[in-house]
Amino acid sequence: MATQSAPYQRELVFGAAIRIFHWLRALAILVLVITGFYISWPFLVAPESSDVLVQGYIRAAHQIFGFLLVSITLVRAYLFFFGKSDIERRSFKDVLSPKSWLTQLKSYLWMGHLDKAGVYGPLQFVTYFAISVVAFLICVTGLVLYANVYHQGLGGMLGGMANWVTMMMGGLAPVRIWHHYFTWVFIIFVVIHVYMAVWSGIRFKHNSVDSIVSGYDYHKKK
Ligand code: HEM
Repeated sequence: MATQSAPYQRELVFGAAIRIFHWLRALAILVLVITGFYISWPFLVAPESSDVLVQGYIRAAHQIFGFLLVSITLVRAYLFFFGKSDIERRSFKDVLSPKSWLTQLKSYLWMGHLDKAGVYGPLQFVTYFAISVVAFLICVTGLVLYANVYHQGLGGMLGGMANWVTMMMGGLAPVRIWHHYFTWVFIIFVVIHVYMAVWSGIRFKHNSVDSIVSGYDYHKKK
């Protein structure tokens, strides 16, 4: 009875797979940033000790979560194109519409409301697309660094591709430096992403942050 008279209506925007992969990816990125920075500056072991495997354990964790991120990146790309719900794909319509860009930019300046064809606004869609490209690049450079050390199994299989990428990037040192720069892109993205998720929930009075947990958004009844 209470729901019937409530001024808001619920809508399922994110299915279980998208929510699970969102949080797995968040966990992978958190672990990869921490372990990656440690790999680049291994401050815990005194230089004279050689039998302490701190660096080895941290590298192992980096690789495990690295392969998790590679898998999530592939599955997530598949879900975007072939997932049952087309709510993400529909957002692309707004990217092609100058009117939608204007509506989104104006709404960010407190002028009017956000009116979307799918679940993301055009600026949001383009940002997510860009971070997906960076995710792809950090996975490729990570796999190149991996294949450089492991020459059997998967490392061996990737060897040809890894040598080609290394050559194109001007050597292994630039591969490592770019892998490091991409880390900073993720850090900057996460800060803005979390800020915008909270801000847009407050600004547009909808279930912004909660929707990636529960799957549901809510809108004022028309
Ligand atoms: C958000 C994702 C990732 C972040 C933030 C990240 C971060 C980093 C950082 C900061 C470094 C140190 C680079 C330096 O020497 O300055 C590193 C090294 C490395 N990363 Fe990643 N990485 C990510 C994903 C991956 C993936 C997907 C793989 C592949 C499985 C991977 C494999 C490696 C390897 C093999 C190294 C070199 C370890 C060494 O030199 O001993 N990383 N990563």
